[in-house]
Amino acid sequence: MPIRFRLNGMPRAVEGISPTMTVLDYLRGVERLTGTKEGCAEGDCGACTVALAKPGQNGPEFEAVNSCLMVVPQLDGREVLTIEGLAGRDGTLHPVQHALVEADATQCGFCTPGFAMAMFAFSQEPGGKDDDAIHEALAGNLCRCTGYRPIVDACRKLQPVPAGCLKELPVAGGSMSSGANYCNGGQIFHLPKSVDELAVLRAQFPDAILLGGGTDLGLRVSKEREAFPAVIWTVGVSELKRVSDKDGVLEFGAAVTYSEALPLLEKHFPSFAALVRRIGSRQIRNLGTFAGNLATASPIGDTIPCLMALNAEVKLHTQAGSRWLPVEQFILGYRKTAMAQDEFIAAVRIPLLGKDRIFTAYKLSKRFDQDISTVVAAFSLSVTSGVVRDLRAAFGGMAAQAARAKHVEAALNGQPWSEDSIARIDQAIAQDFQPMSDHRGAAAYRLCAAANLVRRVHAETTSGQPAQVWAL
Ligand SMILES: Cc1cc2nc3c(=O)[nH]c(=O)nc-3n(C[C@H](O)[C@H](O)[C@H](O)COP(=O)(O)OP(=O)(O)OC[C@H]3O[C@@H](n4cnc5c(N)ncnc54)[C@H](O)[C@@H]3O)c2cc1C
Ligand code: FES
Ligand code: FES
Repeated sequence: MPIRFRLNGMPRAVEGISPTMTVLDYLRGVERLTGTKEGCAEGDCGACTVALAKPGQNGPEFEAVNSCLMVVPQLDGREVLTIEGLAGRDGTLHPVQHALVEADATQCGFCTPGFAMAMFAFSQEPGGKDDDAIHEALAGNLCRCTGYRPIVDACRKLQPVPAGCLKELPVAGGSMSSGANYCNGGQIFHLPKSVDELAVLRAQFPDAILLGGGTDLGLRVSKEREAFPAVIWTVGVSELKRVSDKDGVLEFGAAVTYSEALPLLEKHFPSFAALVRRIGSRQIRNLGTFAGNLATASPIGDTIPCLMALNAEVKLHTQAGSRWLPVEQFILGYRKTAMAQDEFIAAVRIPLLGKDRIFTAYKLSKRFDQDISTVVAAFSLSVTSGVVRDLRAAFGGMAAQAARAKHVEAALNGQPWSEDSIARIDQAIAQDFQPMSDHRGAAAYRLCAAANLVRRVHAETTSGQPAQVWAL
């Protein structure tokens, strides 16, 4: 069965290409739409940005994604828009392009198309266009020549005008969906639509690669040029796209992206939301998932210490049923998890904070945007009558895996929340972790920074200001 989607308003039913061909290679090599550029091929520069439509509450919503990290079957049933589709078919510039011209913000041919597409997706979003929002929307687009100011000026003038090609051809409905799988040259890409189908495939093909957003796996295709023989894609499974906020628990299906999770994170855990806003870029967060972050089990996966401190659980599913496992028990070691070969992550659930409970998270990295963490710290605690209760402290970047800091917790739980208690922290951190030195930070720096983050949460929670709003 071909892969069906619409490209700049025109239907496509694609066959005869590898299912692990990147969308970028497809656009440039097969469609000859060379406006979309390859800069880094690893999700950092944004030169390859295209916009994908998905159904929204008030009509289609566009989101910017990195085409270098996506493979063609991930376009299943979607409307994809490239720089060639922005202008009208008669060549009339789109207001985004006009704004770039008017602000003298047109730059080299490598970065400009990506900026224009990121701006187009941003222009379609509801909400204000203040400078913070503009900087966040553009953080995934790099210009080596530092011409950002006029681009920001152009962003201030954005209006939510449809793309030129889509004024003539309305955005596709759900009728473009592909079949159950797509095969080519001995490779197979499964597109299950239900959890049951996914469970059967997982049992039948235990060696097939499970693909979520592809922001980790995409690098193996884009950079390493790996051609996976078999892939099972989770994102078409409607149950895995569910979000629920009830009975004191927040639950995200495994295919819910960071961008989709952010409104509820913002509501219940502002500090966690602020940290998630620093995962990669808008393009990465529009694809990446908690499930992918957890399954990768990287020592610097940003969400893992937060989920540990919040006592979150992972739902693992097979044909035989489901089990819930605390995140702490799910992560077993360096890139090692407790997931059996026939299991997959179906959801992540986070208990909401009780009354007077505080949660705060910090990410230390060399750059604010688009950078991998040197140290991540997350704390959940109550302070009653000046005494620390049930502190859960978890760190990333301090060992081969993200982990709770049991000595730190023991040193503070039941103790006055005071500078005297905090004075014991350096020793406790050194008992908990013996970090490595690498280009992101020396072992001594990491130990010092981790201890200082405990001092920081103390300072913030005792300063009378809400700690939840800070996450730097
Ligand atoms: C430019 C760039 C910047 C990044 N910045 C950050 C950052 O700041 N912080 C950070 O923590 N990470 C970062 N990442 C890494 C990545 O974005 C995250 O780890 C993301 O959460 C991965 O989710 P995904 O859905 O894209 O995973 P995928 O790439 O689809 O999969 C990753 C792994 O998870 C497995 N998997 C996926 N879904 C399931 C499931 N349902 N059940 C079981 N296994 C599953 C896959 O088999 C694979 O092993 C960055 C990546 C890039 C390319
Ligand atoms: S080519 Fe750089 S982000 Fe895709
Ligand atoms: S990279 Fe294009 S102008 Fe700087």
